[in-house]
Amino acid sequence: MIILFANQKGGVGKSTLATLFSNFAVQKRERKVKVFDMDFQQSLYNKYLNSAQLENEKLYEVELSSIPGFKSIQKRASNDPTILMVIDLAGKMDDDNLVQVFKESELIICPFCYDEYSVTSTFEFCYVVKKVNPSSRIILIPNRVKSSVKYETLDSVKQALSQFGEVTSPVSDRIDFQRLTTSYTPESLVPILDPIFNKLFDDYIEAESKWETETT
Ligand SMILES: Nc1ncnc2c1ncn2[C@@H]1O[C@H](COP(=O)(O)OP(=O)(O)O)[C@@H](O)[C@H]1O
Ligand SMILES: [Mg+2]
Repeated sequence: MIILFANQKGGVGKSTLATLFSNFAVQKRERKVKVFDMDFQQSLYNKYLNSAQLENEKLYEVELSSIPGFKSIQKRASNDPTILMVIDLAGKMDDDNLVQVFKESELIICPFCYDEYSVTSTFEFCYVVKKVNPSSRIILIPNRVKSSVKYETLDSVKQALSQFGEVTSPVSDRIDFQRLTTSYTPESLVPILDPIFNKLFDDYIEAESKWETETT
């Protein structure tokens, strides 16, 4: 299964949530995971290198990749249907090959923030993805939500974005997010993220593999 972390907006938590999701998949759901960093900034890959230097136990491998590399990821995914291929996509939307990526990814996880500019570009991003692939499954995760955000704003944004896919419960803005690595999730983040990721697994990921075994 190919799971994309994407949004054209930078700084919304794509790499952060891709890492936390991958840690969760291995540690809590005992899934095989491979992570592909397609962002030229290589932040996830660099985290992985740092963590490999410091700690001995690897949860999964992180490879550098690029949009043209998607085909080979797809081939590897079809050779091993049990593996979760997690892709951390760059923010750039000007590559024609992205069409294929949006068409063929089974789940698109789209973190966003509640500032006005972020909401607008998230809206545009989802619109483009749905245009390319009307049946794509998008999950929207409100990230870095501060207690100062008004509930009216939360509600109206949630309503507007719900036309594209499920909007999860919000992830709060906490300094602990700086401490996560590709082999460690700070304990304080577990109560925030586990319910969100558990629901994703139950409703979209495990449900999918059940469906696959029933039909093959
Ligand atoms: N919920 C959060 N609370 C506090 N800081 C966060 C949170 N999510 C992400 N960050 C921080 O925000 C910055 C951008 O996150 P990142 O995952 O690199 O975004 P992107 O990959 O979308 O560009 C990073 O410094 C990260 O540690
Ligand atoms: Mg990133």
